[in-house]
Amino acid sequence: MSYKQTKYWTVDKQVDNKESSAQIKEAAMWITKGEVVAFPTETVYGLGANALDEQAVRKIFEAKGRPSDNPLIVHIADQSQLTDLVTEVPELAKKLIEHFWPGPLTLIFKKKAAVAKSVTAGLDTVAVRMPDHPVASRLLKACAVPVAAPSANLSGKPSPTSAEHVLHDLNGRIVGVVDGGQTGVGLESTVLDCSKQVPVLYRPGGVTKEEIEAVIGEVKVDPALRTPDEAPMSPGMKYTHYAPSGALFLVREREQIRQLVKQAKAEGKRVGVLTTEENATSYEADVIVTCGRRENLSSVANALYDGLRLFDREGAEIIYAESFPCSGLGIAIMNRLEKAAGGKIV
Ligand code: TXA
Ligand code: MG
Repeated sequence: MSYKQTKYWTVDKQVDNKESSAQIKEAAMWITKGEVVAFPTETVYGLGANALDEQAVRKIFEAKGRPSDNPLIVHIADQSQLTDLVTEVPELAKKLIEHFWPGPLTLIFKKKAAVAKSVTAGLDTVAVRMPDHPVASRLLKACAVPVAAPSANLSGKPSPTSAEHVLHDLNGRIVGVVDGGQTGVGLESTVLDCSKQVPVLYRPGGVTKEEIEAVIGEVKVDPALRTPDEAPMSPGMKYTHYAPSGALFLVREREQIRQLVKQAKAEGKRVGVLTTEENATSYEADVIVTCGRRENLSSVANALYDGLRLFDREGAEIIYAESFPCSGLGIAIMNRLEKAAGGKIV
């Protein structure tokens, strides 16, 4: 599918006036007509289509070049929409919904038949979340149907945290994009399977494991998150993701980065380093990308994907990324960097 021009609607997330309602209404109209529209959420931009319309959902896979065995998350504006999508909401899930919705926590349930087959890639479960973003909520309400939406990037690339990132990847491939400014969290939602007796964490994200456990007690973690050789329980986690064009290496020790940079420069390569404000001046690389402050991991998460995209714009051929502590939000940051590195860990 190709479009002469991808439509562009600007909606101020603070302002809910006549003009912005008209923009939202038009974007929602395209979704209900079976087209694909990108929109902001509090995590990353999503690429939305009517989750009950098989043909519409297929257009998402086509636009992104996404493998068809990778299921999508269904986005809702109101808890009452759950009843159309899932057969039951277990007690633990009810508690989580009460605490974390709207917010960056995706829950997996047993699905109902109305959900389009390609949304769930043939699985008997469906992933659902309620975004905490005024523009997303207003768009979802205006659509009145549940909206299936993966991140609005080309498959394999870093998720988009601005409308500019979306257009870079998908201009001419989708009907339109709603620009609601920069996203907040900057990393995707946490994915938790509630269809099992004991919930299982499939993807670390905006809500931390510690925060979840404070509400429902211990949860299991997909072993593949700890041992990369293990097959992941969630289909999407097996793919290389978030990768810049240059080869990215995740490096444990900062001193090693200094040596690796020297070596790569001696070989005539254009070298990049992904670092934080605390250490930005300690490398002699060609491209230094500074992602927030190490002492505030939210700021690192927020800047990470734009940082990864910057290496492409600056033509970095080889990239060394600093490591982060494996607790709290650091777990999600390290998970994305490990994926971006495709297993290249020094
Ligand atoms: O923050 C987010 O979650 C963003 C915004 C747009 O909401 N969306 C997002 O979607 O990150 P996507 O498609 O990039 O990631 C969805 C993840 C994939 O890893 C997929 O395999 C997993 O959720 N998933 C979806 N449905 C599933 C299911 N029924 N069982 C297991 N994993 C599932
Ligand atoms: Mg994605």
